Amino acid sequence: MYLRELKLKNFRNYKEQALNPSRGFNLLLGNNAQGKTNLIEAIYLLSSGRSYRTPVDSELLRWGADTLYIKGAVVEEGGEKSIEIGIRGSNKRVKVNGVQLSKRGELFGKLTTVIFSPDELKLVKEGPNYRRKFMDQEIIQIKPAYYYVLTGYNKVLSQRNSLLKDSMKGRANIDTLEVWDKQLTEYGVRLIYDRQRFIKRLSGFAKQMHSKITNGQEDLEVTYQCCVGPKEEESLSDIRSRFGKRLQSFRGRDFKTGVTNFGPHREDLSVNVNGIDVRKYGSQGQQRTAALSMKLSEIELVKSETGEYPVLLLDDVMSELDLLRQEYILGNLARVQTFITCTHLTGVMKKRCDKGKVFNVNSGIITTEG
Ligand SMILES: Nc1ncnc2c1ncn2[C@@H]1O[C@H](COP(=O)(O)OP(=O)(O)OP(=O)(O)O)[C@@H](O)[C@H]1O
Ligand SMILES: [Mg+2]
Repeated sequence: MYLRELKLKNFRNYKEQALNPSRGFNLLLGNNAQGKTNLIEAIYLLSSGRSYRTPVDSELLRWGADTLYIKGAVVEEGGEKSIEIGIRGSNKRVKVNGVQLSKRGELFGKLTTVIFSPDELKLVKEGPNYRRKFMDQEIIQIKPAYYYVLTGYNKVLSQRNSLLKDSMKGRANIDTLEVWDKQLTEYGVRLIYDRQRFIKRLSGFAKQMHSKITNGQEDLEVTYQCCVGPKEEESLSDIRSRFGKRLQSFRGRDFKTGVTNFGPHREDLSVNVNGIDVRKYGSQGQQRTAALSMKLSEIELVKSETGEYPVLLLDDVMSELDLLRQEYILGNLARVQTFITCTHLTGVMKKRCDKGKVFNVNSGIITTEG
């Protein structure tokens, strides 16, 4: 799919801007602090209903303005659809084809995006919560129903945790714990079921991608660290029986610590390059490339699961990569609509620009070259 048109009103430093991107390569060129990342953020907002930079919607309003509006026209095999987002104060409305959505989950999958920004390095470098977030976000784009299971799981988890906390003060009700355990198991098992399947496919694509980017020098292995053990693609009932037993066996520890020590909220992905853990031992460049391969692998995963390529958003990526890696990325994404930000044109990019559009971004005003 691709974004045919984008309109912004009072979004960040944009007063009123319309844009007709190319269906291939789109370069956002400009000095620092001109609005390049803001534009990437606007496209991401259309795809997920939330910014990746802030959880506070009112920060997105142009200073001094009280309403903002974004509209995107998205083209895919089945035709074109419009996505509109309006924010007034802390009130947000999202419409698809003119119909207002009642739940955020209804937006998922309407415009699929893969974003890579400098923050993505955290995916390999930082704690497991970043990798869990990665798994969840990717699965949600492909299978929006996963979002409801995840929110259900998190709700039950926090109720179970407050019960455990109460029990430390001597006010526990064991019958209620049984109820939460049953629900936690039902939601947890479904999360694991999807994670097992998607991560296996994603690691296959990530491995291929990484080998291409590194010219066959590096072998990337992304493995799902599942809380019920390292088995692949089990049935729901197999997962359920192991989940139930494990949850039981952790009970003593849960009562002692006042939190739930077992479950998908404690899972992780291991990321190895040529057999070593890149998180601990990888160089900065290796970590960046591993994160990039993991992210870019979503492109093929989304395509194979939904039949449509996602839109690729690359913020500040090129300046951080060596020429070989830049060449590979720009040379291999011909079928994917790509938005890429940079402060100056490099030779590699100039070559690609022939087949796309260059947008000059200057103090919240975008002009096209030529
Ligand atoms: N809510 C807002 N209203 C008006 N201006 C804003 C708002 N939020 C951010 N800005 C301004 O937008 C400007 C551009 O930000 P942006 O992050 O898009 O820059 P950039 O072009 O990506 O720069 P860099 O090359 O440094 O990454 C910033 O200088 C900031 O002051
Ligand atoms: Mg920026």
